[in-house]
Amino acid sequence: MATKRILTGIRPTGALHLGHYVGALRQWVQLQDDYECFFLMADVQALTTHADRPAVIEDAVREVVLDWIGVGLDPTRPNVHFVLQSGVPELTELTVYFTMLVRHSEVLRNPTIKAEMAQLGKKKGPTLGFISYPVSQAADILLFTPYPPRKRDELLVPVGEDQVPHLEGTNVVARRFNRQYEKVFLPCTPLVGEVGRLPGTDGKDKMSKSLGNVIQLKDDPETVRKQVLQMFTDETKLRKGDPGHPEKCPVYLYHRTLGDSATLEDRASHCRSGELGCVECKKDLAKALNAFLDPIRARRAKAEKMPLGDYLREGTEKAREIAQVTMEAVRKAMHLDYPSVFNR
Ligand code: TRP
Repeated sequence: MATKRILTGIRPTGALHLGHYVGALRQWVQLQDDYECFFLMADVQALTTHADRPAVIEDAVREVVLDWIGVGLDPTRPNVHFVLQSGVPELTELTVYFTMLVRHSEVLRNPTIKAEMAQLGKKKGPTLGFISYPVSQAADILLFTPYPPRKRDELLVPVGEDQVPHLEGTNVVARRFNRQYEKVFLPCTPLVGEVGRLPGTDGKDKMSKSLGNVIQLKDDPETVRKQVLQMFTDETKLRKGDPGHPEKCPVYLYHRTLGDSATLEDRASHCRSGELGCVECKKDLAKALNAFLDPIRARRAKAEKMPLGDYLREGTEKAREIAQVTMEAVRKAMHLDYPSVFNR
């Protein structure tokens, strides 16, 4: 039987929002039926931006587990594992070995790193840990390689589109390692969702807590309503009666992504004709989003009473079992299987 694994992860820096859902989580949920799934709580990677605020990460770990269960990830299934990154020391070890295979200049060419470095600002400059996080992410992924890799095996990584450069980098490392030493790693297969990205409620490219343009999965109905009513719409449609351009409107994009598909076409044509005003359209959206979020809120409330720590511990243990197999092969390939020198 072929081994079909998923490895993907998230940095716990706060509760998750609709952008996470559309860009990543929605797909993860569907894939649980067909794959052995490892969902990585990347608390170590979170330190790349939050080293001065470790308590924020600690609180976020709990929030993210609740959000995961809320959207329908199910750690009580035997094939679904929640893994705490800091609980897998093999990841740190593999990261160090991989840093020997990746050039500084290669990482600096990574477009996601470039964009994130620009956001960090020039004040302090990026830490070594930040610059090397794509290498540690390659370790996150490749640690879970089916081993020995066979033709029909799969290592699928469902992510938002901003992560694709990291997956390309991961496969450069995998191939380089396999060529230079032994064939240990199966290159991963990126899987990017259909929409990939939901803009913020202000219409800006990305939902991000620091921009205050998010709708969190755990927000209550009134908070969602308020946030939606503040949303930006097509700038050229100032009042009801003005013709609108749904294709340029973030509210319409939200309707299209998470709203009622049966009424979507009418909504677009009534917007274009001017018949439908933005306020009414936003009220509809608040209703639709709340209807979408209700079952998530309900599952999340139930999860509050579940043994969340046990799920993380069990998943982390399972990850370490796989890690032993991979690392044994890696150390052997890199001539790091310590006693062997003495046995020659
Ligand atoms: N970089 C990802 C993010 O910003 C989180 C992450 C860590 C990840 N390790 C991973 C994603 C491995 C996919 C695979 O959310």
